[in-house]
Amino acid sequence: MRYKFLPSFARRKGRITNAQKKYLLHLDKFLIHSCQDIQTAAAKFEHISLEIGFGNGEDFFKFTQSQPQTLFIAAEVYDAGIGNLLGKIIESNSQNILIFNKDIRELLDDSHPITFHEIFIICPDPWPKDRHHKRRLLQNNFFDMLNKRMTAESRLFISTDWDNYADDISGSLKSKNHNFDSRLISSIPSRDLSKFQKRAVTEGRRLHFFEVQKIR
Ligand SMILES: C[S@@+](CC[C@H](N)C(=O)[O-])C[C@H]1O[C@@H](n2cnc3c(N)ncnc32)[C@H](O)[C@@H]1O
Repeated sequence: MRYKFLPSFARRKGRITNAQKKYLLHLDKFLIHSCQDIQTAAAKFEHISLEIGFGNGEDFFKFTQSQPQTLFIAAEVYDAGIGNLLGKIIESNSQNILIFNKDIRELLDDSHPITFHEIFIICPDPWPKDRHHKRRLLQNNFFDMLNKRMTAESRLFISTDWDNYADDISGSLKSKNHNFDSRLISSIPSRDLSKFQKRAVTEGRRLHFFEVQKIR
């Protein structure tokens, strides 16, 4: 199969539990396919936020429940994680989360001019080997895509636990092409650590956090 983008994720064949399989049967009710779908769903919300690569969705779900006036678009390609998040949405009858289950670049490439109030990218796949760095999601062309989805009021929050990924991100954010203003912060406001962040801390890696906005 030919991909439009070099995959930034490894297709995980990890075990899916019976409960996750059961919840995945309901995926269609929570799925968006385009930015137009987001626009339609957003009518009754104050803001729209985007979470890219929510993993198992545990910390993300908790965060969404503190902001019922925000519509969260949750992007992940990993079926077990999607099943896990769906379980939480369904069991709590949560009304403010919709899911995009493909490469997020397919959605951001859409020509519809929707923008996001906040965008979160927490522990993007690090691709630690030098020869795999080209697979890293956070590169100049991806920042171009994000830039088009932000206004001067938008905020982009990024966290990585890989020092050389943080250096590359910092370099890209400073590129004049993007018109970004970024600063290092000590945590993402109001959010618990994610599964991968907790693992990084346990394994002795330092967490890096960026808050990014567009220069007016
Ligand atoms: C290292 S995990 C981190 C998960 C979670 N944010 C956490 O911190 O626990 C990165 C996740 O991003 C997802 N991902 C990577 N590239 C993606 C893409 N292009 N579109 C959507 N999800 C992506 C992967 O499937 C993976 O689950």
